[in-house]
Amino acid sequence: MNEFISVVNKLQDALSNVYTDTSNEIHLPQIVVIGSQSAGKSSVIESIVGRSFLPRGTGIVTRRPLILQLIKQEEIKNVKCESSEEIFRMFSKKLRQFSKNMDNSNNKFSFHEGIAPTDDNDVGNWLEEEFSDQEDEVDEDEDELSDEWIEFLHNPEKKFTNYSDVCKEIERQTDIVAGKDKGISDEPISLKVYSPRVVNLTLVDLPGFTKVAVGDQPEDIEDQIKNMVMNYIDNPNSIVLAVTAANTDIATSEALKFAKQVDKNGERTVAVLTKLDLMDKGTDAYDILSGNVYEVKLGIIGVVNRSQQDIIDKKGIDDQLKSESEFFEENYPKLAKKSGTTYLASKLSRILISHIKKTLPDLRKRIKQGKLTQKKELELYGAEIIDKTATFYDIVNEFVNYYRKVIEGSSNSNIKIYRII
Ligand code: GDP
Ligand code: NA
Ligand code: MG
Repeated sequence: MNEFISVVNKLQDALSNVYTDTSNEIHLPQIVVIGSQSAGKSSVIESIVGRSFLPRGTGIVTRRPLILQLIKQEEIKNVKCESSEEIFRMFSKKLRQFSKNMDNSNNKFSFHEGIAPTDDNDVGNWLEEEFSDQEDEVDEDEDELSDEWIEFLHNPEKKFTNYSDVCKEIERQTDIVAGKDKGISDEPISLKVYSPRVVNLTLVDLPGFTKVAVGDQPEDIEDQIKNMVMNYIDNPNSIVLAVTAANTDIATSEALKFAKQVDKNGERTVAVLTKLDLMDKGTDAYDILSGNVYEVKLGIIGVVNRSQQDIIDKKGIDDQLKSESEFFEENYPKLAKKSGTTYLASKLSRILISHIKKTLPDLRKRIKQGKLTQKKELELYGAEIIDKTATFYDIVNEFVNYYRKVIEGSSNSNIKIYRII
């Protein structure tokens, strides 16, 4: 996972040096997970994301598409700001993150005593300190998040800072729209995860393929789910994770059949074989994983997710990654290097890189144009562009001063634009 996160981070850092305008942002592909009911789709997404908050379980649990947008909160020390808007955006994000400790009821920033300095001149120093050491990993046992929060599109005002509350909210929203009794809906639930430890990436979890209508399900449930899946994977910007459980027959995998329909040359389909730990005694998936049974150009990757019992026992993701790699060392020593969640994640990062490479020539053109437009725009606002190295402190001070002028109603003074190199 670390490799995946660091590769994509490096890419985006590199790109943030060349683009300044949001319209030039690289649209990373979305990763769409498809497969039969209970094949382990939600479990696979969770291990890629490294966080446990998706409802999982036997039977139909995911009943609405779930669009999961991961948004990296930049480490404030290394942030590169090339425009005042960018500084503003970055700074207000940080403020929101710490809004619990702040009081802006009297229409200006004031920090509670004991938590932050009340002397305005020290604010910059304080921020620098506050944000300097954020490398710690999330402690899985601790459900409370500190510098990470989740918000839903249907209620962006509410910031969730607890994984199990997020899970409950997904379940609640599923019940409200799709009914309590196994009904489905194609209306997606969208949520955003803000954290310094994620990469900017969108993942889509979908209801699984099913044949027979149960509970509140309409007679044509099979077709409804297929159409829903098609809608997402038809998008050429989607990477399809086709999930099949190892205790079913891969030759009849609906996931692979559907992926093939939209991606004939297999350029954006990765097959994932789950539940290798549940295969019948005496059988193994060696042939399948080697591609001798069914060929998938980008590979068939075996994983072992947490079982239902593990979920009940609240086994953490890190523990599972350990058991998973032991499982492969023991049962598939020849394939161990090319198996498991960590390998799957690194594979995905390589696919993302090759996707970005393809979009670079066009991007270059847009950046050239964008820089010209931006310069003209800034001059129009009377901005003074200072092309020198600035510390983060300079920028925060500049921003705080500027913001103060805005709330005092005297904002028509010049803004200094620093470039941090
Ligand atoms: P989905 O319906 O495809 O989203 O599947 P879920 O992720 O909800 O998983 C369905 C059930 O299978 C859950 O009880 C999971 O704990 C279990 N499960 C998923 N993957 C594995 C696996 O690799 N091994 C085992 N033993 N159980 C798994
Ligand atoms: Na399920
Ligand atoms: Mg699911």
